[in-house]
Parts: sequence; structure tokens; C-alpha cells
Amino acid sequence: MTAPPQSRRAVQFSRFGPPDVLELVTEPLPTPGPADVVVAVAAAGVNFADTMVRRGEYRRDQQLPDVPGVEAVGTVVWAGPGSGHVVGTTVAAFLTEGGGYTDHAVVAGRRAYPVPADVAPVTVAAGFLQGITAWYAVDRHGRTRPGETVLVTGATGGVGGLAVQLAADLGARVIGTASTPAKRERARELGCAGAVDPADPDLRGTLRDLTDGRGVDVVVDMVGGPVFAAALDALGHNGRYVVVGSSTQQPAVFDARRLMPRGQTVSGFILRRIIDADPAEPGRAITHVLDRVAAGAVRLRTETFPLADAAHVHTLLEERRTVGKICLVP
Ligand SMILES: NC(=O)c1ccc[n+]([C@@H]2O[C@H](COP(=O)([O-])OP(=O)(O)OC[C@H]3O[C@@H](n4cnc5c(N)ncnc54)[C@H](OP(=O)(O)O)[C@@H]3O)[C@@H](O)[C@H]2O)c1
Repeated sequence: MTAPPQSRRAVQFSRFGPPDVLELVTEPLPTPGPADVVVAVAAAGVNFADTMVRRGEYRRDQQLPDVPGVEAVGTVVWAGPGSGHVVGTTVAAFLTEGGGYTDHAVVAGRRAYPVPADVAPVTVAAGFLQGITAWYAVDRHGRTRPGETVLVTGATGGVGGLAVQLAADLGARVIGTASTPAKRERARELGCAGAVDPADPDLRGTLRDLTDGRGVDVVVDMVGGPVFAAALDALGHNGRYVVVGSSTQQPAVFDARRLMPRGQTVSGFILRRIIDADPAEPGRAITHVLDRVAAGAVRLRTETFPLADAAHVHTLLEERRTVGKICLVP
């Protein structure tokens, strides 16, 4: 294609609010720059943070109207001369400013990563942002080693399910939190040796019992809030606590002096900031996650919905009714 398409279908919102502010519209395609590509989207990944963006709770500089969605997988149908891409390439793209819930996304070429064309787009989307996040948490920040014990909170969520599998793949023993019996069963299927209810009034004691009082080596925390204190108490000597998310959106507060006696560390990261600083940075993580998927060591559970169902999908996420990765398929 020599010229990008003139218009596109996109899910947008013109005011912050509940899921029904999301509406499917046909709009002019934003003008791509010389360093951009236009991607015909085959799968737009949905992430929990998109619900916060919709409520106006994620970024201070957010403009309206806005199209949510920070990741999209598809085919390059137009490539700017300075984009570094050619038409026809299959890419997974980060849209750090949003714009993914559409059939045609305008993406900075340096944030579009070529991916194998023979892997289903929803599979790539499921392993992409959440996969990289899970791998950074388990490997880079958690420094998980074979034989160690890893606690993953929100173990059946998008990031959580991947963190469980990637940690188990490294040879770790994994314990997960999950809020319903069905989710706990799913956590075990994913590879958790133990699955616990985050609302357990004696979560501390339960986690200690599961580790024979020794504590866990790594916590990968997607949930924060009330689970944080119990999970931090469950951290053993030389333990690493990785703050990945805050699904509860409640504070996770502690006295840093308590880290000293046991030589513990607490760290956190935001993938978007890492990519803003150096878009090439996640390349190794993407390759690792997709390799482990190809090897069958990591299995991705995905569910797809049409673009028009974006509001329904946000409701499911906010009501904690999803398991695994949700994608919008134009
Ligand atoms: N740091 C980063 O770069 C980065 C990147 C991606 C995602 N994240 C964050 O990581 C977290 C998980 O993201 P995700 O995309 O995997 O989301 P997800 O698929 O919706 O999973 C979220 C999990 O959190 C749990 N949860 C606990 N309290 C909740 C509440 N009040 N509302 C909704 N869920 C609740 C749910 O499990 P139970 O119902 O079993 O408790 C659910 O499985 C989010 O906070 C997200 O913002 C951070």
C-alpha cells in the first residue's frame, strides 16, 4: 500500500467514567509521521491499566477524546521512510500513548517489534506486554533461581498467569493467590504448588505454613493493598519483593527499617518507562517469552471479543471475572 487508509474504526471515549463511555466510532486515521508505521490490527491486547486510563486515573497528561489500548499485533500496511520497517512485516507494537483499540493503529516504528508471522496474533498479544512484564518481575527484579519459592499475587490474571509459568519454568516452586475456588483450581493448573485466597483472614499464617515457616524467596505482586502486608511478612531471608501492579488500587505501605535484619529488597518498575527510555530494551524478553511459548513451557489462555464489546470487556476486568489474556479482534 502506498498511502495509509483514510479512516478507521476505533473505540474511543470523550469523557472519563464507567465502561459505557467507550463507543465504537469511525474516524479519520491520525496522520502518521515519517518514523511511524500503520498496522492493520489483528489483535489488540486489553490490559487492566486500560480501565484506569478510561477512568482518568492513570496519566496526568491524558487528552480527550482518547482511544485506549497500549499494544497491538498485526501487519504493517504503510511504513514511513524513517520507520525502519517494510510493508508486510508482522509486528507487535507498544502504543505507550494509547490508540490500540482499532483496526488500524499508528505506531512509532521504533516501538514495533517484528514477530514470527506463523504464531497466532492473539498468542503474540498474550505474551507481549504482560509476558515482558512477568519476565522482568520473575527474572530481572526477582532474580528467581531453581529451587526457590515464588509467591505470585493475582496468579490467574494476565501478568500473574505468565509469572507463575515463567517462574515454574525456571525450576521454582510457586504459590499463587486467587480469589475464587475456580481461580485457585486454575492457578494449580498453571503450575502453582499452592493456591490461597487473598481474603484469608490469616493469610500470613497460611503462607508461613506453606513454606514451613521459612518464607518465600520472591514475591511478584500484582495486587497490593491489604495483600501487601501479609505477602511482605511471608518474605524470607534475602527475599526480593517485586511491586508490579496495584489491582486493588489501595496503598501498600511499610516501614523500610524492617528490610535490614533479613537482607530483603523491595523493587518496582513500569514497563512503559523502560520502553520510553530505550525501545530496543525489551527485545530479549520478547524473544524469551515467545521461545518458551513455542517450546510449550508456557501456555497462554486467551479470550477474544469484537471491538464493539470493549465496554463489556472492561466490566469483566473490573469485576475480576477474567482469566488470562483478553484481546479485541477487529
Ligand atoms: N509494572 C508494569 O509495567 C505493569 C505492566 C502490566 C500490568 N501491570 C499491573 O499489573 C496488574 C495486573 O495486570 P493484568 O493486566 O494482569 O490484569 P488482570 O488480568 O486484570 O489481573 C489482575 C488480577 O488482580 C487481581 N485483583 C485483586 N484485586 C482486584 C481488584 N480490586 N480488581 C481487579 N482485580 C483484582 C485479580 O485476581 P483475583 O481476583 O484472583 O484476586 C486479577 O487476576 C495491574 O495492576 C496492572 O496495572 C503493571
